[in-house]
Amino acid sequence: MGHEFSIEKFRKQFPILSKPLRNGNPLVYLDNSATTQKPQSVIDKIVDFYSTYNSNVHRGMYEFSERATDEYEQARHNVAEYLGVNNPNEIIFVRGATEAINLVAYSYGRKFLTAGDEILIGAAEHHANYLPWQVLEQEIGVRRRIIPLNADYVIDIDQYEHLFSKRTKFVAIQHISNVLGTVNDIRTLSAIAHAHGAKILVDGACSLASEKINLGETDCDFFACSGHKGFGPTGSGFLFGKYDLLQDMVPYHVGGNIVNKVCFEKSSFKLPPTKFEAGTPDIAAVLGLGAAIDFLKEIDWKSARAYFSELVQYASGKIRSIPGIKVYGTSKNQSGVFSFNLDDIHAHDVATHLGSRGIAIRAGTHCAQPLMQILGVSGTARISLCLHNTKQEIDKAITALKDCLNIFTGKAITSIGSVQNRPS
Ligand SMILES: Cc1ncc(COP(=O)(O)O)c(C=O)c1O
Repeated sequence: MGHEFSIEKFRKQFPILSKPLRNGNPLVYLDNSATTQKPQSVIDKIVDFYSTYNSNVHRGMYEFSERATDEYEQARHNVAEYLGVNNPNEIIFVRGATEAINLVAYSYGRKFLTAGDEILIGAAEHHANYLPWQVLEQEIGVRRRIIPLNADYVIDIDQYEHLFSKRTKFVAIQHISNVLGTVNDIRTLSAIAHAHGAKILVDGACSLASEKINLGETDCDFFACSGHKGFGPTGSGFLFGKYDLLQDMVPYHVGGNIVNKVCFEKSSFKLPPTKFEAGTPDIAAVLGLGAAIDFLKEIDWKSARAYFSELVQYASGKIRSIPGIKVYGTSKNQSGVFSFNLDDIHAHDVATHLGSRGIAIRAGTHCAQPLMQILGVSGTARISLCLHNTKQEIDKAITALKDCLNIFTGKAITSIGSVQNRPS
């Protein structure tokens, strides 16, 4: 059971947030879509593992290894329980969403899709949920069809439904856009896919830190998740897959620990999830992910959501009121990600200027070049918020953005919403 959300208590759990940077500025971390910061409990778990029971899993017959194995499997139970998944064997540990999606494209796609089958793919996808399907198209001749966005850069459900044909076998779509912050209604998208007999993979890379998801309710067939964007360590992530599908899939990579029997002639593989976890896994990352799930469980999501939605509203108002700013995406269902361009200042200059003040944002294409094409830009600057952010931090970013505008364009901001040319 969680406690009422307290921002002070929450922030205290992240040691990095109280450490001044080299120039003395406190860190203002607004790059949470790239990776989230790690709470002390996650850091402690990793340190504890390496300093007291470091060993391999599923093979050692001694105390350390048994403990590591127990905790590794406990982490699987933890992920499953937190996400409303009844069978922990439907959770496969991988390095992140990229590996999870590649696993499905390889292990499901190459076995169950054939030339001419159609895959529907969102127009705002990250390259991780775009390239595996493009490669599949080149290799086996499946056809990709792009799900268009409406004027708010949100999926139009009617247009989505209209794309289905007898040939549609698969949908690959993100839960939360790392560029626009749009939150897709995956329950509805799944229901429509299933009504047309298609399977659906949801890219949930950015989901963990944003909300409490129940995969049982969303009913997607596959869910790819990055642990490091949900307070877990880098190198952690998981794929959820419905068990009957996982059972029929071929392993993505093969090697130690996943076989029942290996002979010169042929071999047989263990059941899921083991058959997808060949070799020594990143044990510390999995244990860290288990600790991150414990951390997430402690959050009272009702009050946390109330805090966060007020913060997002506040940020949205402040950011959009900066003269000369263009913010991309106006979805009502916003996760706290704002991509923008400031006048005609290069996004990298904006990010560098903020970086010099200890404010961490991202600039570039955000691994979503097809979306940049739709937006008609070469890149954007991006602020991505997380539960530990505060209005004061947003104010600092706004001040820095206004100063940036003054410095780069010579336009002095006299008051919110009005700009005058700086006197020469
Ligand atoms: C929407 C989205 N999908 C997939 C990925 C890939 O995740 P990872 O780098 O953890 O594999 C990212 C990472 O930025 C992302 O934002």
